[in-house]
Amino acid sequence: MNSFVSMKTLNEAEIYHLIKRTDWFANNKSVDLSTGKKRFVSNLFYEPSTRTKLSFEIAEKRLGFEVLDFQVEQSSVVKGESVYDTAKTIQSIGVDAIVIRHPEKNIVQQLSESLSIPIINAGDGSGEHPTQSLLDLYTMYKEFNEFKGLNVLIVGDIVHSRVAHSNAYALKTLGANVFLSAKSKWQDNTLGFPYVNLDEGIKRADVVMLLRVQRERHASQEMNEEDSYLEKYGLTVARELQMKPNSIIMHPAPVIRGVEIADQLVECNRSRIFKQMEYGVYARMAVLDHLLN
Ligand code: CP
Repeated sequence: MNSFVSMKTLNEAEIYHLIKRTDWFANNKSVDLSTGKKRFVSNLFYEPSTRTKLSFEIAEKRLGFEVLDFQVEQSSVVKGESVYDTAKTIQSIGVDAIVIRHPEKNIVQQLSESLSIPIINAGDGSGEHPTQSLLDLYTMYKEFNEFKGLNVLIVGDIVHSRVAHSNAYALKTLGANVFLSAKSKWQDNTLGFPYVNLDEGIKRADVVMLLRVQRERHASQEMNEEDSYLEKYGLTVARELQMKPNSIIMHPAPVIRGVEIADQLVECNRSRIFKQMEYGVYARMAVLDHLLN
């Protein structure tokens, strides 16, 4: 693995290796990880981000890398420089790896095939978000220790969700029982998992993974439907009461409280939403370490 672009292409052993490395970083927070080598990493975010961008930056600094901050709106991108020429420039001036988020699906894959330095996908449009998937898998691993037979219900805006795509591919490889729930226009039938009634699925699931309503990828008329979304398609307090005793709630965040999930459930005992964010640092350390050390 020279770049980290997709969960679809990883086999079971490769995924477990990254989960175990994530666990190692989680358990060795105070170990000095500097290698003495000067290496540069640049984070190119063509779409907004809070968690992914900042947790990559912490992960890079903990591993002793020099982080070159790149602000798209302050760069020659505004003069019309293409994403390929931007990334090629960054490689040419001596950067050792690029982390990139971009609205165009598959662009990260194309870059990884054109450049010689490692490219890490921090989200490509509605394509994939593999480091989010790794932290999600680690969250499940911490809770249940295995994936075979684990019942995972993914709920919401599946067709637009890069998180759903990466997780569906990885969970299939790991042998989990994945089932999906979404209104018909947000279903993605290419994933090959069954769609279920939300109220039935909630009762069976060990993991209820909610997805953000991807407003930026919708027509304005769909936003008007959000008023009734929670009752029809979201995790209400009544639905949470139907969950199995040890089942957990996950969400990649940002959460739109009161739309995908009732406000008071975001930080309830079952919720792992803020734990997922913490684990994101360790997962990104595992990926950077794997590619660069
Ligand atoms: N989960 C996630 O990708 O969050 P950000 O958009 O804030 O990075």
